[in-house]
Amino acid sequence: MTLPEDPLWWRDAVVYQMYVRSFADANTDGIGDLAGITGRLGYVAALGVDAIWLTPFYPSPQRDHGYDVADYFGVEPAYGTLDDFDRLVAECHRHGLRVLGDIVPNHCSDEHQWFRDALSAGPGSAERARFYFRDGRGENGELPPNNWLAAFGGPAWTRVCDGQWYLHTFTTWQPDFNWDNADVVEMFDTVLRFWFDRGIDGFRVDAVTHLGKAPGLPDAPPLPPGTRETDAAGRNPYSLYWPSGHDVWRHWRQVTDRYERDHPGRHLATVAEAYTANRPDVLLQYVRPDEFHQVFSFDLMLAPWHPSTLRRAIDQTYTALGSVGASMTWALNNHDSQRSVTRYGRADATDPDSWTGNNLVYHDVAVDVVVGTARARAASVLLAGLPGSIYLYQGEELGLQEVLDLPAEARTDPIYLRTEGRELGRDGCRVPLPWTTDPVTGYGFSAGPSRPWLPQPEGWGRQAVAVEAADDDAMLALYRTVLAARAALPAGDETLTWQLPELTQLVAFSRAGVLVVLNATGVEVQLDRLGGPEREVVLSSRRGHSDPGVVPPDTCVWIRPVG
Ligand code: GLC
Ligand code: CA
Repeated sequence: MTLPEDPLWWRDAVVYQMYVRSFADANTDGIGDLAGITGRLGYVAALGVDAIWLTPFYPSPQRDHGYDVADYFGVEPAYGTLDDFDRLVAECHRHGLRVLGDIVPNHCSDEHQWFRDALSAGPGSAERARFYFRDGRGENGELPPNNWLAAFGGPAWTRVCDGQWYLHTFTTWQPDFNWDNADVVEMFDTVLRFWFDRGIDGFRVDAVTHLGKAPGLPDAPPLPPGTRETDAAGRNPYSLYWPSGHDVWRHWRQVTDRYERDHPGRHLATVAEAYTANRPDVLLQYVRPDEFHQVFSFDLMLAPWHPSTLRRAIDQTYTALGSVGASMTWALNNHDSQRSVTRYGRADATDPDSWTGNNLVYHDVAVDVVVGTARARAASVLLAGLPGSIYLYQGEELGLQEVLDLPAEARTDPIYLRTEGRELGRDGCRVPLPWTTDPVTGYGFSAGPSRPWLPQPEGWGRQAVAVEAADDDAMLALYRTVLAARAALPAGDETLTWQLPELTQLVAFSRAGVLVVLNATGVEVQLDRLGGPEREVVLSSRRGHSDPGVVPPDTCVWIRPVG
């Protein structure tokens, strides 16, 4: 099979996100690797996806599992070699799957050669100008240059031996690049082309909202009382959504467009990771026609399980992105958020005010897995009905839960470490995938006996691929069915029309000839008022449900006229 010749493939693509460390381990060291992925591509292709997205696989001290890049031009030895990468891309393309990489432009690792050079070159050097080095405040410069806080806890500044400080939006191990510096711009141009030359079909671009800082790095205004420490960076008006970031994205679009022109037949896509917290006006800026191809619409992922918040998330995204001609890019899960089964099963999931801006913290509320699973099933049927593209995160097709009770000593997420455990962080959605029922091999995660890098809970094998593949009622069967139904919809129709506005318990819209109805409440809803021609249920998240006249609680259906 070869790649379909479609310049706009990304607009309605289904993309499967692989957290490289946790997908499959070929050499049994307990850490996922590229060869492991290559060996499992048949499974991914059979799901019915168009592309995969690989989280960062570059050499890295793994303080933030690859989002701290030490060398943008290589492969992390634990994950394999450049040859393994080339093989993986070739095999993906043979399976008809495109490959998105993950590029991290806001910061690198403190072990990147440039940062080491900056440390040894000293204050005022050209090497330091690639980062944000500043003198401190206070009599002896002992206070940070400003009051900014880091996204993962603690101050956004770290002091080095000679007394200067450097800025890091995330952790002390992730110094921010200074994008006003020409070396930085040029290096990333080379990075993009390097991976395009190796066959990559585009990039997910990390943390784009943080790139670009106000000149002079002024103090941020005081935070409202009670702001969580990990929310502070997301409220700093001098380092979030700063307009100069967009100059970089416009430049990247030129690099990408030029590459396509010079390489006929190559069709590249870039997708921005931009959390814009219910600010569609900000969201749309990233997908103006000369910027990114796509931007994640995280408002849906972060919305509580309530019809009005779900409707609002969809509507505001659809309207805003439509206004600049961009297609929608939806996701319910990723490697930074609590898994949807758990999130939707939480006792506070239906509270329309439970929007937290992110959901990395477990607030110690009870989780009902049965309810959470029904809702996650419904959400997947909703997702597949939306226009635009959808991104799935490995394991959601198995209905995996967040692992909330990882032992403290097993946790590795810098959010957990930097907040000294006040926030649990994201390890719980990164537990290695179960492929079989054999605990000795990490439930088939490893090709032989191993100890996976994060411990898997007992019974993890119950949701193994091998088990679910044989069960028509499993989440896996639903995902396969849903993706096949989505693929069968007429291509290119990106229109969504709201329906049944008087039934406020529902999220209902028509699109591409089907009526998608989500009942996000605990009470059955009658649909007799639909009237008109005879209808049938094409797809339902609830097993055995086929009556087009009712939508059971926490259920999503696709309905269409018979014939
Ligand atoms: C993004 C990534 C996250 C990472 C952070 C810093 O939000 O998705 O995993 O920790 O950026 O690079
Ligand atoms: Ca391995």
